[in-house]
Amino acid sequence: MMKKPLILVTGGAGYIGSHTVVALQQAGFEAVIVDNLSNSTVEVLSGIARITGIRPHFAQVDCCDRPALAGVFDAWPGIVAAIHFAASKSVGESVHQPLKYYHNNLQSLINMLDEMLHRGIAHFVFSSSCTVYGQPDRLPVTEDAPVKPAISPYGNTKQICEEIIRDTAAAGFALQSILLRYFNPIGAHPSAEIGELPVGVPQNLVPFITQTAAGIRKELSVFGNDYATPDGSCIRDYINVVDLARAHVSAVNYLLEGKNTAPVEAFNIGTGRGLSVLELIALFRQATGAALPFKIVGRRAGDIEQVWADPRKANSALGWQATETIEDTLRSAWKWEKRIRGIND
Ligand code: UD1
Repeated sequence: MMKKPLILVTGGAGYIGSHTVVALQQAGFEAVIVDNLSNSTVEVLSGIARITGIRPHFAQVDCCDRPALAGVFDAWPGIVAAIHFAASKSVGESVHQPLKYYHNNLQSLINMLDEMLHRGIAHFVFSSSCTVYGQPDRLPVTEDAPVKPAISPYGNTKQICEEIIRDTAAAGFALQSILLRYFNPIGAHPSAEIGELPVGVPQNLVPFITQTAAGIRKELSVFGNDYATPDGSCIRDYINVVDLARAHVSAVNYLLEGKNTAPVEAFNIGTGRGLSVLELIALFRQATGAALPFKIVGRRAGDIEQVWADPRKANSALGWQATETIEDTLRSAWKWEKRIRGIND
């Protein structure tokens, strides 16, 4: 039997990482997860195994720990590409603990690139965010839209990481990278074996919606209905996490097949459809039949009014597109919430 290509997935026990490991394994790759479990649990590996029949390789290592990270590359010498998810990701926390964010997110990237260059591993996929566009001048936003000054230290780390990757490639090192700029990832694997595990009070909309529907929160607060949008609430491009996971497999294949036209290429990963907060609430109620009390409150500081993707570059170059409906996606989020709360239908 042909040996499966081995992919290193940092942060592979996390929300997007775990779904990506499933997608990689289902596409015939073998995965090594590196995760410090700071925001996930080892149980996720069992969830992945229940879906795919394969338990991924795992090293509990912090990517900021250079010798430990080197040990992972030593232990699995066949790695052909890396997908780097490992990072701190709470926008609010980053405002209060900026140094934690700059340290974790920048040091882990630098260590990864250094290790890869030393070992001659060229293919690198980086988790970036539509946050780099700020409030775009034109919608839908394309990849050549200017990067706007970041609103949070978290957003700034994504911009700086993109620059570190570009500078490293420009210096002539043999690095072939893809920056995947995610819009708003939501939902869970349809099996409800893996999903998002928010710690404490969720800051993101869909986990707050499902926790409210589950009775854990009294009501959802809609942050503002006085924006210059049709119904006054903010607009986002909500992308199913399984669709998003598949984009990583497409990106890895694209690099391994040498299809990239530049050492660094950025791709928007979204649906191309913008939905308002109020529309999403209505869709959730419709799709699940669950009750969802909400009230309108003031705007949240730092929120962008509206952003959605032009995903055509990823559609044509990567041969990837979002296929899940928003209704199925919201149902998957609700199924996952019920599963982790032990709620029966
Ligand atoms: C934010 C970050 C993004 C980050 C993502 C994941 C910005 C501009 N974007 O996205 O970089 O990757 O979080 O952590 O900082 N909302 C409510 N009530 C709630 C929660 C949210 O009305 O209880 C609204 C928000 O105002 C927003 C929408 O729902 O309009 C989506 O919010 P959220 O899920 O937090 O994602 P973003 O803010 O878009």
